[in-house]
Amino acid sequence: MLEEGLKKRDILKILENKLSKDYRYNSGHILGSMCTAAHEFGREIYCKYVNKNLGDPGLFSGTAELEDDLVKEIGELYHGKDIIGSFTTGGSEANLIAVRVAKELRPDINEPEMIVPVSAHMSFDKSAELLGIKLRKAKLKENSKLDTEHFKSLINENTCLVVGIAGTTSLGLIDPIQEIGKMIENKEIFFHVDAAFGGFVLPFLKHLGYKIPEWDFNVDQVDSITSDPHKMGMNVIPSGGIFLRNKNIIQKTGFEIPYLAGGNFKHLHIVGTRPGGPVISFWALMKYLGMNGFKEILNKCMKNTYYLCDGINGIKGIKLVTEPVMNIVGITTESGESICELDEELRKLDWMLGKFEDFNLIRIVIMPHITKSHLTKFIKDLAYIVKKLGL
Ligand SMILES: Cc1ncc(COP(=O)(O)O)c(C=O)c1O
Repeated sequence: MLEEGLKKRDILKILENKLSKDYRYNSGHILGSMCTAAHEFGREIYCKYVNKNLGDPGLFSGTAELEDDLVKEIGELYHGKDIIGSFTTGGSEANLIAVRVAKELRPDINEPEMIVPVSAHMSFDKSAELLGIKLRKAKLKENSKLDTEHFKSLINENTCLVVGIAGTTSLGLIDPIQEIGKMIENKEIFFHVDAAFGGFVLPFLKHLGYKIPEWDFNVDQVDSITSDPHKMGMNVIPSGGIFLRNKNIIQKTGFEIPYLAGGNFKHLHIVGTRPGGPVISFWALMKYLGMNGFKEILNKCMKNTYYLCDGINGIKGIKLVTEPVMNIVGITTESGESICELDEELRKLDWMLGKFEDFNLIRIVIMPHITKSHLTKFIKDLAYIVKKLGL
């Protein structure tokens, strides 16, 4: 550590230099990320309220009230009534909270198990390991959709949790949430839906007239939903969200913190100190954008998604894994050859994609920072590399 502090000007110069290595969203080269540049108004609000700490809600009761309002509003967007929950550091923490709640609600099970589709996010592997739960993975069919027969066959007396995904990480597909709900009807099994990505996509697509299957609290058996404002919600990082139907969950399964300056309260979080800034910025962003603002963002992303699909369909040697349901596209080879070399060559041209070796696909997430002209350049490079590799 320096004895004497540097001048602000000099520090800014060092930072500028060091951070110039970072990729920028507006370069168009970040094609495989679920995050994007946060909305300008959200950023402004976040900076203003960066000191708010929701780890001690008694001290920041105004911020806590805003969070409750926001959770209720998002809960209504997901067709729930008086939904409870809170903001998290992201989808991984929200999923971990749901898994822990499911386990806590079944103290009668000695060796608890949970069932997730093979397409589930890594956060469920992490959660299972951290919480000592056996993770059972249901297979996918040839068409990348969930094999519901296999899923059903994994349910037994030790199952405390089943998980469905509304917007899979690799392809943006929606699991048959209603069908999973029927499988556990009248069973004491918690049902969590991971809509970390889809949560701020599906409601707007539906309003745009897309045919979207039921995936939220409209399905009676759904107990909780993960949905992340720092993905398609355009909010600052970190902001995930966990939304729960049963109001008593926090009383039943929450941690009590006895020493806080603002007084006791119960919470479900893994973290203690918790940023209030992202909650306030998203509260403001929801008010600012409204349904029409989000619809406009989604409309543009979907137009670009179809433009990319047309481009891919025009290149011999590669193909779409499946028709996109949302703004996520998967590319694979026509021959079944590995996509690894294709990914490597595209990376050399500075295209930052998502490589899913298990599914032999390259994922592109058409986020709001991606424009048609970025995609035109990418399609040109893609065609060139596919030809060069002789795929
Ligand atoms: C479906 C799904 N769930 C959970 C997560 C984890 O979210 P985070 O990276 O915010 O922890 C992701 C991230 O890509 C995801 O796609």
